[in-house]
Amino acid sequence: MSKPKVFVTRVVPDKGLELVKDFCDVDLWTGELAPSREELLQHIQGVDGVLSLLTDKIDAEVMDAAGTQLKVISNFAVGFDNIDVSAATTRKIPVGNTPDVLTDSTADFAFALMLSAGRRILEGDRYVRAGKWQTWGPMLLLGIEMKGSTLGLVGFGRIGKAMVRRAVGFDMRVIYYDPNETGFDSNVKATSVDLETLLEESDFISLHTPLTLATHHLIDSEALSKMKPSVILVNTSRGPVVDLNALYEALKSKRIFAAGLDVTEPEPLRADHPLLTLDNVVIVPHIASATKTARDKMAWLAAKNLIAGLKGEHLPNCVNPQVYK
Ligand code: DGY
Repeated sequence: MSKPKVFVTRVVPDKGLELVKDFCDVDLWTGELAPSREELLQHIQGVDGVLSLLTDKIDAEVMDAAGTQLKVISNFAVGFDNIDVSAATTRKIPVGNTPDVLTDSTADFAFALMLSAGRRILEGDRYVRAGKWQTWGPMLLLGIEMKGSTLGLVGFGRIGKAMVRRAVGFDMRVIYYDPNETGFDSNVKATSVDLETLLEESDFISLHTPLTLATHHLIDSEALSKMKPSVILVNTSRGPVVDLNALYEALKSKRIFAAGLDVTEPEPLRADHPLLTLDNVVIVPHIASATKTARDKMAWLAAKNLIAGLKGEHLPNCVNPQVYK
């Protein structure tokens, strides 16, 4: 019997890839960059499944280009805003994602950004490299203390809750805003507040919300104007949750103290972007989940989702379970 045909849009860690190769006839995109739109539309034709990345826009046109035999879309990410889930649901195609396995790596990284931006670590590094370090100074590169501060979490899913566990160790008070919260847990040491209260009271604000119409530019100039001048803003969610022009103005005028960005709009951010002229922002290339442990597990889970879909079984992690009704 012939194996199902799948398109894997980038090289993913070995274990997951091997699993896919054992079960499928794989068209593997080996380019360092994502396939272009034309390449995606071409390679998707006739496949039974696709293992996609957050850099691939999988919309109705792509699904139709694949053909009616397309059985599963497995995204190598917990976020799935790159996929038109309602178009997939209409076509009865289950969409898989990779939750849980990257929760800790992402929460760790959000703390790393809070500390880097709040304690001016990269600024200090540049200072030393530039040969400016002459002496110890009582006023040199003063930052923001974690202990006793208030951490405001926008979005209170798995990663938001993992942030609380870390915040406890830093003696922080935690408040959160999440209009879609499900399953209140009285063991979690955090208080639900409205967005305005969170913006006004937080010393650190960390974003952990999916990108939706409601969260697009949630952090705009109005939101930034409500924050404390000493606030550190961290984004490890999706770039478009923050209006980068408004953030640039707020950082440049010192309306807020600093920001740490794992994600930007657009990605990649061009090296001549005005934000990169500022010292009070730390920007990294969407690597919050980038530990070997997390990426191996993401590949494994994405492979499991793909193969389950090809077999006509329920996906271990399905974002549109309505397709099974
Ligand atoms: C995700 O999984 O959605 C992250 O942004 C990348 O790991």
